[in-house]
Amino acid sequence: MPDASSPAPLVEVRGVNKYFGEHHVLKDIDMEVARGEVVIVIGPSGSGKSTLCRAINRLETINSGDIIIDGQRLPDEGKALARLRSEVGMVFQAFNLFAHKTVLENVTLAPIQVKKIPKAKAVERAMELLTRVGVEAHANKLPSQLSGGQQQRVAIARTLAMDPKLMLLDEPTSALDPEMINEVLDVMIALAQSGMTMIVVTHEMGFARKAADRVVFMADGAIVEEAPPETFFTDPSSDRAKDFLSKILH
Ligand SMILES: Nc1ncnc2c1ncn2[C@@H]1O[C@H](COP(=O)(O)OP(=O)(O)O)[C@@H](O)[C@H]1O
Ligand SMILES: [Mg+2]
Repeated sequence: MPDASSPAPLVEVRGVNKYFGEHHVLKDIDMEVARGEVVIVIGPSGSGKSTLCRAINRLETINSGDIIIDGQRLPDEGKALARLRSEVGMVFQAFNLFAHKTVLENVTLAPIQVKKIPKAKAVERAMELLTRVGVEAHANKLPSQLSGGQQQRVAIARTLAMDPKLMLLDEPTSALDPEMINEVLDVMIALAQSGMTMIVVTHEMGFARKAADRVVFMADGAIVEEAPPETFFTDPSSDRAKDFLSKILH
């Protein structure tokens, strides 16, 4: 739940516009995420959800507006950007693990190379995180020896190893076989309950209902509606949301 005692939101997106050529893909996006808040971003394919996540992490530049994380405006480039970016953990649909490195190496690589954490300490912390996501028994295997659900849990552990202030998860379960979705959602629910600030692009209503504070519905590059999950899923106010929900619910 949001921490009401903290003054500023952790994430402030103000009047953000983004074009790909002539195509206006983010239209005056305003969004705030409080510390400890879990926000679900939902909407039709092509509505700009991934672009918004990527913009928040500066994997994508913006044409106008401001993105402020923990009181700091995201710089365009350089060391300051690298530092701010390391404070935002991102988990993608494709797990993006290094195929030729073991699970343990995948989780310790950035802490050792980027954060200069001594190897023994990085390994100890990695094993804690792998235990937390339930894949510690596979630490010395290569990603290809794990199931998709296990690989995505490793990807989450790898992100957590950098101690991010914010986690962005972009459709983290949509590439998984159905029987593996819940094991990843359970890890995400536990993470949400631990107080992590999260922005999650997902259509998983079970996760939304259990773990989300707020649903942000996007269509055609704009935020159309925001509501608590129960309200959004049972009584959406916009026609766009009603139409979208009727499609994903049937
Ligand atoms: N690198 C890119 N170059 C050009 N157009 C892009 C690029 N990435 C995304 N788009 C377009 O921007 C729009 C929003 O895409 P995206 O953010 O991926 O939507 P979503 O994640 O909601 O499916 C889509 O029309 C998509 O085709
Ligand atoms: Mg997307």
